[in-house]
Amino acid sequence: MKIVTFFNNKGGVGKTTLVYHLAWMFKNLGLKVLAVDLDPQANLTTAFLDEERWEELHAWDAMSKHTIMGALQPLVERLGDVGDPYVERMDDNLWLLPGDLSLSTFEDRLAMAWAACLDDNKANAGDGFRVETAFYRVMVKAAAQHEADLVLVDVGPSLGALNRAALLASDYVVMPLGASLFSLQGLRNLGPALREWRDGWSERKKRKHAGDVSPLAPGTMKPAGYVVMQHVEKKSKRVKAYATWLERIPSLYRTFVLGEETTETPPTKLDPNRLGSIRHFRSLMPLAEDARKPVFALTPADGAIGSHGNAVRDCYDSFEKLALTLAAACQIDVPLASLTLPVPAQKPEVTLRKQIRARDGGHGTGLAFGNCCHQPRVTDRVSVQGAYVQVFQRLNARRFIRRRRKS
Ligand SMILES: Nc1ncnc2c1ncn2[C@@H]1O[C@H](COP(=O)(O)OP(=O)(O)OP(=O)(O)O)[C@@H](O)[C@H]1O
Ligand SMILES: [Mg+2]
Repeated sequence: MKIVTFFNNKGGVGKTTLVYHLAWMFKNLGLKVLAVDLDPQANLTTAFLDEERWEELHAWDAMSKHTIMGALQPLVERLGDVGDPYVERMDDNLWLLPGDLSLSTFEDRLAMAWAACLDDNKANAGDGFRVETAFYRVMVKAAAQHEADLVLVDVGPSLGALNRAALLASDYVVMPLGASLFSLQGLRNLGPALREWRDGWSERKKRKHAGDVSPLAPGTMKPAGYVVMQHVEKKSKRVKAYATWLERIPSLYRTFVLGEETTETPPTKLDPNRLGSIRHFRSLMPLAEDARKPVFALTPADGAIGSHGNAVRDCYDSFEKLALTLAAACQIDVPLASLTLPVPAQKPEVTLRKQIRARDGGHGTGLAFGNCCHQPRVTDRVSVQGAYVQVFQRLNARRFIRRRRKS
């Protein structure tokens, strides 16, 4: 089981939208997925649940048992340790651990716990470790209830104690980025914060009372890469600025997040740290919100007719590609039978070539493989996913050239 958190210090870049769509996509790809809402704004929960259900789950007069706060209640009231979390089934193999607006009341406790972990007093340190690892232990319990393969976590944009505890629980961190000054300034704050939290946690884990709590949060929070969110409207004057910021992402990511010295960096499209990019959904977004579905699952009955149908298919392709790239970056095993192109039993590169030819109207795969210096090679599941990603990228390039020729 892997825990992946989507984080950027800039608000509104599309974190929640990304978690929501990827949760459905990974479910489509055959994984058991748990989506966790650790943002006190609870936007992920409202994306999944309609108002009626939200009201049923959320108690007005007491601490709700059916949200993340339900599991934290004994700790908050200092009556014990974390309880069993309630998870809401959204579909076969997809569950939600609902968020709660009162989660922000837990922030002060978390801030004190961070200091208490260093206390020599056994009781204080024990309480500190129990509180600091509460999110991790609740997520582990929730995932175990349904044997989830993957936990996707949505958090708010702050660099406070709530997000520190959420990130300590994460194996990987994905950064959704907009190509704008503020989004990239968020990147500048993020790298140092992650390093400080990682170092602070490894220091605390060495303390003698750390062993009193189990399991302890890993504190790995490895940066898996970034996703360029292009949903900011590229209106006339802003286009140039957009392109300039886009070009700066690879070097800023390397410098501030990975802490590497950079002299030369590749263009954004070829940057190995770029997991993918998500385009503006335009008028599909309100349709998806009304239907309470991901954009790529819209049907003509939901209003996705005419050219919308093609946009929905393109959206499916980009999320599938993004999910596979992310899976490869985070060492997540995707059952290959679920891919759009079925996995060949033998000689994958030859069979893939045939399949693409068939899908591509029998015109061959000159572009798909002709310019490809690394032929897809199957050594394990992850490298097969890499091969698919290469193939999809080249198919898209081919479509793009055809469209340009036509116009
Ligand atoms: N690709 C997209 N196309 C169109 N609209 C989008 C896209 N991605 C996000 N949005 C819209 O942008 C707004 C902000 O997105 P979202 O809530 O996902 O951002 P966030 O980073 O989670 O924000 P916060 O920091 O407040 O949690 C939402 O109204 C969402 O519908
Ligand atoms: Mg959000």
